[in-house]
Amino acid sequence: MNNFHWESNRLFCENVPLSDLAGEYGTPSFIYSTAAICNRIELLQGALESFDCTICFSVKSNSNLSILQCAASRGIGADIVSGGELFRALKAGIPPGSIVFSGVGKTVRELEYALASSIRMFNVESESELHLLSSIAERMGKIAPVALRINPDVDARTHQFTTTGKKGNKFGIPFTDVERIYTYATELPNIQPLGIDVHLGSPITSLEPYREALDVLSGLIINLRANGIAIETLDLGGGFGITYSDEKPFTPVQFADLIRPYIDKLDCRLIVEPGRYIMGNSAVLLTRITYVKKSYGKTFYICDAGMNDCIRPPLYDAYHAITPVEKTGTAPAEPVDIVGPICESSDFLAKGREMPVAHAGDILAVMSCGAYCFTMASNYNSRPRACEILVNGDSSRVIRERETWEDLVRGESLPGTG
Ligand code: LLP
Repeated sequence: MNNFHWESNRLFCENVPLSDLAGEYGTPSFIYSTAAICNRIELLQGALESFDCTICFSVKSNSNLSILQCAASRGIGADIVSGGELFRALKAGIPPGSIVFSGVGKTVRELEYALASSIRMFNVESESELHLLSSIAERMGKIAPVALRINPDVDARTHQFTTTGKKGNKFGIPFTDVERIYTYATELPNIQPLGIDVHLGSPITSLEPYREALDVLSGLIINLRANGIAIETLDLGGGFGITYSDEKPFTPVQFADLIRPYIDKLDCRLIVEPGRYIMGNSAVLLTRITYVKKSYGKTFYICDAGMNDCIRPPLYDAYHAITPVEKTGTAPAEPVDIVGPICESSDFLAKGREMPVAHAGDILAVMSCGAYCFTMASNYNSRPRACEILVNGDSSRVIRERETWEDLVRGESLPGTG
């Protein structure tokens, strides 16, 4: 996390000490680095520049309008999975021609909205979805550009909850059904089959699953073309891993080197759908220790952020580094549990973590919280969601206000009060 660095025992985001940001905006708060986001985008664009490639940012990883706008202004498209994500992407200025729509459960309303918006491609995940899309497109007098999302039965070697391209997962169309469904698609007047899509899972730290998927997909594309189905785009989804702890994921350049012979041979356009790679290491979650508690010989740092702000540790057993934002020089304490205020024993940010001695009032930074933290946040225990702050050099601004207690009850009503 290069844009988060130490200077005189204080942790900075770009040129701003995180302790100052905690003082100014309160806690819990998500702090994003513009430079980190841009840097990741540039690395991807640099590695993929020799391909006819669209980078579609995965909106589910972080859907804040300012983040999407930052991506859009650098020529990035969007990978969406709902009408709400489409609404956000368009509002942030992402051109519809750079938006691809995946997801197993697209509704009539969502399909209508996406057709009316003239998005680049629908990644269709079942025969019934194809059928529905066709009838809606016909009614609307539109042609739907389509890729079938294939389930290639490749093991992404990641957590079982975030594996998406294996037999038994709900995603994609079984490999054995693909040619038949493409043939059917060509017979539908309002469907234009032009692509193949795959998503393997996330995060992926080795190139092997991509190699396996490319072997399968290349053969398929060649067969489809031999049968007159003009596949011109390959959407190669699979979440590039990042370093949360000591992982050493492949680089975008290594990814490009792996795919080059396949893409050159197939002579096709390419789409990639990274979310975590761009955002994961681009933010921290700041939290204040409310209490230090000892119980039966164990120490708990009880913080004002909890599983409603960052559910990844309990949900996926995910590791996030955690550090005080100021080094005090105090010796490491016994391992501690860093927990939130929520009434569940699954409410933890870290368990048994070696930490320096800390006290009530100290600020901790939970690292690598730019992807799948705010977007998975909830109001559980009626806790307002944290604010989001974007740092750029010396300056910072609120890109999402902290929710209030009033926000929590907005839209609810009591009998007789409307
Ligand atoms: N495209 C599709 C169709 C996806 O399903 C996903 C992630 C992505 C793109 C983006 O993957 P990324 O580049 O961000 O790794 N909540 C989990 C991650 C679930 C990802 C599911 N799909 C987590 O916190 O690790």
